[in-house]
Amino acid sequence: MLKVKSLSAGYQGNDVVHQVDFEVGSGEAVMIIGSNGAGKTTLFRAMCGLLVPSSGQVFFEGTDISGAPAERIARLGLRFVAAERHLFPQMTVHENLLLGANPYRPDPKTMSLILDLFPRLAERRRQHAGTMSGGEQQMLAVGRALMSKPRLLVLDEPSTGLAPLLAQAAYEALGALRKQGLTVLVAEQQVPLAMSFSERGYVLENGYIKLQGTAQELAANPIVRRAYLGVT
Ligand SMILES: Nc1ncnc2c1ncn2[C@@H]1O[C@H](COP(=O)(O)OP(=O)(O)OP(=O)(O)O)[C@@H](O)[C@H]1O
Ligand SMILES: [Mg+2]
Repeated sequence: MLKVKSLSAGYQGNDVVHQVDFEVGSGEAVMIIGSNGAGKTTLFRAMCGLLVPSSGQVFFEGTDISGAPAERIARLGLRFVAAERHLFPQMTVHENLLLGANPYRPDPKTMSLILDLFPRLAERRRQHAGTMSGGEQQMLAVGRALMSKPRLLVLDEPSTGLAPLLAQAAYEALGALRKQGLTVLVAEQQVPLAMSFSERGYVLENGYIKLQGTAQELAANPIVRRAYLGVT
Protein backbone atom coordinates (compact mmCIF):
# COMPACT_ATOMS: atom_id res chain seq x y z
CA MET A 1 0.00 0.00 0.00
CA LEU A 2 2.82 2.38 0.90
CA LYS A 3 6.33 2.13 -0.44
CA VAL A 4 9.03 4.58 0.58
CA LYS A 5 12.20 4.36 -1.49
CA SER A 6 15.47 5.93 -0.46
CA LEU A 7 13.71 8.98 0.98
CA SER A 8 15.83 11.82 2.32
CA ALA A 9 14.45 14.99 3.84
CA GLY A 10 15.44 17.77 6.16
CA TYR A 11 15.47 21.47 6.78
CA GLN A 12 17.42 24.35 5.23
CA GLY A 13 19.35 22.00 2.99
CA ASN A 14 20.44 19.66 5.78
CA ASP A 15 18.96 16.17 5.63
CA VAL A 16 17.88 14.67 8.94
CA VAL A 17 16.29 11.59 7.34
CA HIS A 18 18.62 9.64 5.08
CA GLN A 19 17.76 7.17 2.30
CA VAL A 20 14.93 5.60 4.21
CA ASP A 21 13.31 2.49 2.72
CA PHE A 22 10.22 0.90 4.16
CA GLU A 23 6.81 -0.36 3.23
CA VAL A 24 3.38 -0.96 4.66
CA GLY A 25 1.12 -3.65 3.24
CA SER A 26 -2.64 -3.36 3.01
CA GLY A 27 -4.26 -4.23 6.35
CA GLU A 28 -1.01 -4.13 8.29
CA ALA A 29 -0.13 -2.14 11.39
CA VAL A 30 3.47 -0.99 11.21
CA MET A 31 5.44 0.98 13.79
CA ILE A 32 8.40 3.28 13.51
CA ILE A 33 10.33 3.51 16.73
CA GLY A 34 13.17 5.85 17.50
CA SER A 35 14.34 8.19 20.20
CA ASN A 36 13.69 11.95 20.37
CA GLY A 37 15.10 13.68 17.33
CA ALA A 38 15.59 10.45 15.36
CA GLY A 39 13.56 11.88 12.46
CA LYS A 40 10.17 10.13 12.79
CA THR A 41 8.09 13.28 12.42
CA THR A 42 10.28 14.53 9.58
CA LEU A 43 9.86 11.21 7.77
CA PHE A 44 6.07 11.36 8.12
CA ARG A 45 5.94 14.99 7.02
CA ALA A 46 8.02 14.21 3.94
CA MET A 47 5.68 11.32 3.07
CA CYS A 48 2.48 13.26 3.58
CA GLY A 49 3.28 16.38 1.57
CA LEU A 50 4.08 18.66 4.50
CA LEU A 51 7.77 18.79 3.65
CA VAL A 52 9.30 18.42 0.21
CA PRO A 53 11.75 15.47 0.24
CA SER A 54 15.26 16.24 -0.95
CA SER A 55 15.40 12.91 -2.78
CA GLY A 56 13.72 9.55 -3.01
CA GLN A 57 10.21 8.39 -3.79
CA VAL A 58 6.94 7.62 -2.07
CA PHE A 59 4.29 5.41 -3.67
CA PHE A 60 0.79 5.10 -2.27
CA GLU A 61 -1.30 2.33 -3.80
CA GLY A 62 0.88 2.47 -6.89
CA THR A 63 0.65 6.26 -7.33
CA ASP A 64 3.86 8.25 -7.10
CA ILE A 65 3.10 10.88 -4.44
CA SER A 66 6.70 12.06 -3.95
CA GLY A 67 6.57 15.78 -3.21
CA ALA A 68 2.82 15.98 -4.03
CA PRO A 69 0.74 18.60 -2.19
CA ALA A 70 -0.66 17.48 1.17
CA GLU A 71 -4.29 17.94 0.15
CA ARG A 72 -3.86 15.66 -2.87
CA ILE A 73 -2.24 12.98 -0.73
CA ALA A 74 -5.04 13.27 1.84
CA ARG A 75 -7.65 12.98 -0.91
CA LEU A 76 -6.05 9.75 -2.11
CA GLY A 77 -6.76 8.28 1.34
CA LEU A 78 -3.54 8.76 3.25
CA ARG A 79 -4.33 10.71 6.42
CA PHE A 80 -1.73 12.06 8.82
CA VAL A 81 -2.51 12.90 12.43
CA ALA A 82 0.25 15.21 13.68
CA ALA A 83 1.40 15.04 17.28
CA GLU A 84 0.28 18.67 17.66
CA ARG A 85 -3.25 17.64 16.63
CA HIS A 86 -4.10 20.96 14.92
CA LEU A 87 -7.71 21.07 16.06
CA PHE A 88 -9.87 24.16 15.70
CA PRO A 89 -10.08 25.15 19.38
CA GLN A 90 -13.03 27.57 19.05
CA MET A 91 -15.14 25.02 17.23
CA THR A 92 -17.08 22.23 18.86
CA VAL A 93 -16.14 18.57 18.85
CA HIS A 94 -18.92 17.93 16.36
CA GLU A 95 -17.74 20.73 14.05
CA ASN A 96 -14.16 19.49 14.18
CA LEU A 97 -15.33 16.02 13.21
CA LEU A 98 -17.39 17.41 10.32
CA LEU A 99 -14.33 19.21 9.02
CA GLY A 100 -12.59 15.87 8.62
CA ALA A 101 -15.31 14.53 6.34
CA ASN A 102 -15.27 14.67 2.59
CA PRO A 103 -17.50 17.67 1.81
CA TYR A 104 -18.67 16.01 -1.40
CA ARG A 105 -19.57 12.73 0.26
CA PRO A 106 -20.98 13.44 3.73
CA ASP A 107 -21.57 10.17 5.52
CA PRO A 108 -23.62 10.05 8.73
CA LYS A 109 -22.72 6.37 9.20
CA THR A 110 -19.04 7.22 9.67
CA MET A 111 -19.88 9.91 12.22
CA SER A 112 -21.93 7.48 14.31
CA LEU A 113 -19.23 4.83 14.04
CA ILE A 114 -16.63 7.25 15.38
CA LEU A 115 -18.89 8.39 18.19
CA ASP A 116 -19.48 4.74 19.12
CA LEU A 117 -15.76 4.13 19.09
CA PHE A 118 -14.96 7.17 21.23
CA PRO A 119 -17.94 7.60 23.58
CA ARG A 120 -16.14 10.53 25.23
CA LEU A 121 -16.49 12.48 21.98
CA ALA A 122 -20.20 11.67 21.84
CA GLU A 123 -20.72 12.92 25.42
CA ARG A 124 -18.84 16.13 24.64
CA ARG A 125 -20.09 16.75 21.14
CA ARG A 126 -21.00 20.36 21.87
CA GLN A 127 -17.90 21.28 23.87
CA HIS A 128 -15.27 23.53 22.29
CA ALA A 129 -12.30 21.44 21.19
CA GLY A 130 -9.89 23.84 22.93
CA THR A 131 -11.39 23.05 26.34
CA MET A 132 -11.11 19.28 25.96
CA SER A 133 -8.42 17.49 27.96
CA GLY A 134 -5.22 16.50 26.19
CA GLY A 135 -6.32 12.90 25.84
CA GLU A 136 -9.75 13.89 24.60
CA GLN A 137 -8.16 16.17 22.02
CA GLN A 138 -6.03 13.28 20.84
CA MET A 139 -9.13 11.13 20.36
CA LEU A 140 -10.75 14.00 18.49
CA ALA A 141 -7.76 14.36 16.16
CA VAL A 142 -7.91 10.65 15.36
CA GLY A 143 -11.70 10.77 15.02
CA ARG A 144 -11.49 13.72 12.65
CA ALA A 145 -8.97 11.89 10.46
CA LEU A 146 -11.24 8.85 10.39
CA MET A 147 -14.17 10.93 9.16
CA SER A 148 -12.66 10.89 5.68
CA LYS A 149 -12.59 7.08 5.71
CA PRO A 150 -8.84 6.90 5.03
CA ARG A 151 -7.18 3.83 3.58
CA LEU A 152 -3.98 4.47 5.52
CA LEU A 153 -3.86 6.31 8.83
CA VAL A 154 -0.47 7.72 9.82
CA LEU A 155 -0.25 8.59 13.51
CA ASP A 156 2.57 10.53 15.08
CA GLU A 157 2.86 9.70 18.79
CA PRO A 158 -0.85 9.05 19.40
CA SER A 159 -0.32 8.18 23.07
CA THR A 160 1.24 11.54 23.96
CA GLY A 161 -0.59 13.08 26.88
CA LEU A 162 -2.76 10.02 27.44
CA ALA A 163 -2.89 8.25 30.78
CA PRO A 164 -1.89 4.58 30.44
CA LEU A 165 -5.46 3.32 30.46
CA LEU A 166 -6.59 5.86 27.88
CA ALA A 167 -3.61 5.12 25.69
CA GLN A 168 -4.53 1.47 25.80
CA ALA A 169 -8.14 2.31 25.02
CA ALA A 170 -7.05 4.42 22.05
CA TYR A 171 -5.05 1.49 20.66
CA GLU A 172 -8.00 -0.83 21.26
CA ALA A 173 -10.17 1.53 19.21
CA LEU A 174 -7.56 1.46 16.45
CA GLY A 175 -7.54 -2.33 16.67
CA ALA A 176 -11.30 -2.35 16.10
CA LEU A 177 -10.82 -0.16 13.02
CA ARG A 178 -8.17 -2.47 11.66
CA LYS A 179 -10.70 -5.28 11.69
CA GLN A 180 -12.70 -3.11 9.30
CA GLY A 181 -9.79 -2.87 6.92
CA LEU A 182 -7.89 0.21 8.07
CA THR A 183 -4.12 0.15 7.61
CA VAL A 184 -2.06 1.98 10.25
CA LEU A 185 1.45 3.38 10.40
CA VAL A 186 2.45 4.71 13.79
CA ALA A 187 5.41 6.43 15.40
CA GLU A 188 5.32 5.77 19.11
CA GLN A 189 7.47 6.51 22.16
CA GLN A 190 5.64 3.97 24.26
CA VAL A 191 7.28 1.08 22.51
CA PRO A 192 5.59 -1.79 24.42
CA LEU A 193 2.21 -0.34 23.49
CA ALA A 194 3.18 -0.02 19.83
CA MET A 195 4.56 -3.55 19.88
CA SER A 196 1.35 -5.03 21.19
CA PHE A 197 -0.52 -3.31 18.36
CA SER A 198 1.79 -3.69 15.35
CA GLU A 199 2.83 -6.71 13.34
CA ARG A 200 6.06 -5.21 12.11
CA GLY A 201 8.31 -2.31 12.74
CA TYR A 202 11.38 -0.31 11.88
CA VAL A 203 13.89 1.33 14.16
CA LEU A 204 14.98 4.80 13.05
CA GLU A 205 18.22 6.10 14.53
CA ASN A 206 19.78 9.43 13.58
CA GLY A 207 17.66 9.46 10.43
CA TYR A 208 18.67 5.98 9.26
CA ILE A 209 16.65 2.75 9.41
CA LYS A 210 18.84 0.62 11.65
CA LEU A 211 16.68 -2.44 12.19
CA GLN A 212 13.48 -3.95 10.96
CA GLY A 213 11.46 -7.00 11.78
CA THR A 214 8.27 -8.44 13.16
CA ALA A 215 7.13 -7.11 16.52
CA GLN A 216 8.36 -10.38 18.09
CA GLU A 217 11.77 -10.10 16.45
CA LEU A 218 12.19 -6.51 17.57
CA ALA A 219 10.98 -7.29 21.08
CA ALA A 220 13.64 -10.00 21.30
CA ASN A 221 16.43 -7.86 19.86
CA PRO A 222 18.99 -6.90 22.54
CA ILE A 223 19.50 -3.39 21.09
CA VAL A 224 15.78 -2.70 21.09
CA ARG A 225 15.40 -4.17 24.56
CA ARG A 226 18.11 -1.96 25.97
CA ALA A 227 17.28 1.26 24.16
CA TYR A 228 13.49 1.17 23.93
CA LEU A 229 12.16 -1.37 26.39
CA GLY A 230 14.32 -0.42 29.36
CA VAL A 231 15.61 -3.98 29.79
CA THR A 232 19.22 -4.10 30.99
N1 LIG B 1 11.45 22.84 11.37
C1 LIG B 1 12.67 22.40 11.65
N2 LIG B 1 13.76 23.13 11.36
C2 LIG B 1 15.01 22.68 11.62
N3 LIG B 1 15.27 21.49 12.20
C3 LIG B 1 14.21 20.72 12.52
C4 LIG B 1 12.87 21.13 12.28
N4 LIG B 1 12.05 20.15 12.72
C5 LIG B 1 12.83 19.16 13.21
N5 LIG B 1 14.13 19.52 13.10
C6 LIG B 1 15.28 18.68 13.52
O1 LIG B 1 15.25 17.46 12.80
C7 LIG B 1 15.66 16.37 13.63
C8 LIG B 1 14.59 15.30 13.62
O2 LIG B 1 13.42 15.81 14.25
P1 LIG B 1 12.03 15.05 14.27
O3 LIG B 1 11.03 15.98 14.82
O4 LIG B 1 11.78 14.48 12.92
O5 LIG B 1 12.35 13.86 15.27
P2 LIG B 1 11.37 12.82 15.99
O6 LIG B 1 11.95 11.47 15.79
O7 LIG B 1 9.98 13.05 15.54
O8 LIG B 1 11.53 13.23 17.52
P3 LIG B 1 10.44 13.21 18.73
O9 LIG B 1 10.37 11.78 19.20
O10 LIG B 1 11.06 14.07 19.76
O11 LIG B 1 9.14 13.73 18.19
C9 LIG B 1 15.91 16.95 15.01
O12 LIG B 1 17.30 17.12 15.15
C10 LIG B 1 15.21 18.30 14.98
O13 LIG B 1 15.85 19.24 15.78
MG1 LIG C 1 8.25 13.57 16.48
